[in-house]
Amino acid sequence: MERTFLMIKPDGVQRGLIGRIVGRLEDKGFKLVAGKFLHISDELAHRHYAEHEGKDFFANLVGFITSGPVFAMVWEGDDVIALSRQVIGKTNVQEAQPGTIRGDFASHTPHNLIHGSDSPESAEREIANFFAEHEVVQYDRTLSPWL
Ligand code: RTP
Ligand code: MG
Repeated sequence: MERTFLMIKPDGVQRGLIGRIVGRLEDKGFKLVAGKFLHISDELAHRHYAEHEGKDFFANLVGFITSGPVFAMVWEGDDVIALSRQVIGKTNVQEAQPGTIRGDFASHTPHNLIHGSDSPESAEREIANFFAEHEVVQYDRTLSPWL
């Protein structure tokens, strides 16, 4: 069982897509274990995107992610890191396939609606950036044998 950090970005919030995006993750069978609606600080944005520091799009990325509230989440499931990135779709809008969140809803690469951790190490670091351990809820779902 894995955990991943997913975050609906300010464009997804402003466009009123939180419910539809969360619905797609629920439809896939992933289990929501934490959620937080917040406006992230410049400091947290730098920490979250530390791996991109120095790249030409870094300033735009930090400016964008701090431009409005986000919906930060932790989801659980077998192989949820890789599988959720498939549900999200490719970063480049020209490559994001229809049927994925980005393929269906995004038309410009920087405004790609949702962040997803790209490895177990990133997931652990990103979850810890946004959530205390006690904010991640443990519970059973009776339908888990059917997924
Ligand atoms: P994310 O981290 O947001 O889930 O996206 P990702 O893994 O698919 O993409 P990543 O390579 O980690 O890039 C992080 C975010 O930076 C913006 N970006 N802009 N060339 C560009 O203009 C460019 N490349 C990346 C995107 O907003 C991407 O989500
Ligand atoms: Mg990334």
